[in-house]
Amino acid sequence: MPKAAELHLGDKTIELPIVEGSEGERAIDITRLRSETGYITLDPGYANTGSCRSDITFIDGEKGILRYRGIPIEQLADRSSFLEVAFLLMYGSLPSGDQLSYFKNSIRQHTMLHEDFKKLYGALPKDAHPMAACSAAVGALATFYPDSLDPRDPREVEISVHRLIAKLPTMAAYAYKHSIGQPFMFPNNRYDYVGNFLWMMFGNPCEDYEVDETVRKALDLLFILHADHEQNCSTSTARLVGSSMVNLFSVISASINSLWGPLHGGANQQVIEMLAAIRDEGMTGREFVERAKTKDDTSRLMGFGHRVYKNFDPRAKIIKKACFDVLNKLGVHSKLLEIAVELEEIALSDDYFIERKLYPNVDFYSGVIYNAIGTPSNMFTALFAIGRLPGWIAQWIELHTDPDFKIGRPRQVYTGPNETEYTPLAER
Ligand code: CMC
Repeated sequence: MPKAAELHLGDKTIELPIVEGSEGERAIDITRLRSETGYITLDPGYANTGSCRSDITFIDGEKGILRYRGIPIEQLADRSSFLEVAFLLMYGSLPSGDQLSYFKNSIRQHTMLHEDFKKLYGALPKDAHPMAACSAAVGALATFYPDSLDPRDPREVEISVHRLIAKLPTMAAYAYKHSIGQPFMFPNNRYDYVGNFLWMMFGNPCEDYEVDETVRKALDLLFILHADHEQNCSTSTARLVGSSMVNLFSVISASINSLWGPLHGGANQQVIEMLAAIRDEGMTGREFVERAKTKDDTSRLMGFGHRVYKNFDPRAKIIKKACFDVLNKLGVHSKLLEIAVELEEIALSDDYFIERKLYPNVDFYSGVIYNAIGTPSNMFTALFAIGRLPGWIAQWIELHTDPDFKIGRPRQVYTGPNETEYTPLAER
């Protein structure tokens, strides 16, 4: 491998060092480009830009590989649990038995929200989208805990991390309860992390509630699969916002908003709504796929395509199998699952999708599971956010320990008017 790349600009030649990652990924280090040449790079959508070095997650989009801290996602999905994966991502290695019980206990102790949060939720319209509600509630944590906002104080970081992981499920469940007019359910610490979330979502004060083990396990699996995905849009948001040295709650509030978009995590809600529309309008799968290919039609095949995966998304493979298992165990017959399978078959043998290397992504089948366990579609992306939270935090912690730490501040190529005289109002 060459040690450097040569860049010829007119009669000037400069050498740009080549950096190699532990899995052989290569990058040209352009940190000196502007100071030595006056040029910047232009890369809309950052498709060719490495924003950082990172030890956390490895993806090979051509081979369909995903690993957290080196461990294949398939093994974690099969053998780990969400809180163990959260620990792995944030602290760098699998926890010992003692570390895991300390971590779980600490999370368990921070699940309650300050009672004044009820007023915050009460001020929101009933049909407030849960992602907007969660972002507002997470942002509000900065007002409740002003003594733990320093991103460089290890004790303040630790407590903020535990509070966030513990409280986000409570916040998401409160958003749902508010939308249906039911009383908020206090966390019940006799359940584990996922069981507690199910209790707060689906329990009510008038009845006993049994956490269904099939449902609990399915949700735990989905959280593991969503836990990190290197420098995606919401994670890059976490790093960019965090680079201003603002507190963790503000960072995560911004990431939740970023995840909400339909091209990112919001796709899971869009997928189920697409499947339901196909069912309700009596459209065939073929008709919909043809529509998704038409450039003048805005309806894409949601849950298909990925910036990095140009082969199967390994998470989608695991989720598809889980989808059949869970629906089977719950005895649910889903027309939506049938439509999803039909769409996938048509798309995977269609030249448009083959040429563009468009495969099902993490969002294609996850919504069918959420739907089968009784979750309303506008809550899907909030579930994604609970899963992704440890990844955002891990990347934010890494940002603050990076020797190359700098505020994120891209440049631009200005294409507006040249210097123009101000025209007074009367002359316009
Ligand atoms: N349906 C139809 N055409 C598509 C789709 C799709 N789902 N995805 C990409 N294309 C086409 C696109 O029109 C373009 O065609 P052409 O080259 O003829 O102009 C080509 O494929 C490349 O697409 P792109 O938008 O330039 O690719 P990208 O890497 O910028 O976008 C994506 C990736 C995920 C935003 C996109 O595939 C998409 O919009 N998918 C649907 C939304 C979705 O499922 N998002 C979830 C992503 S995975 C989870 C997550 O990130 O949270």
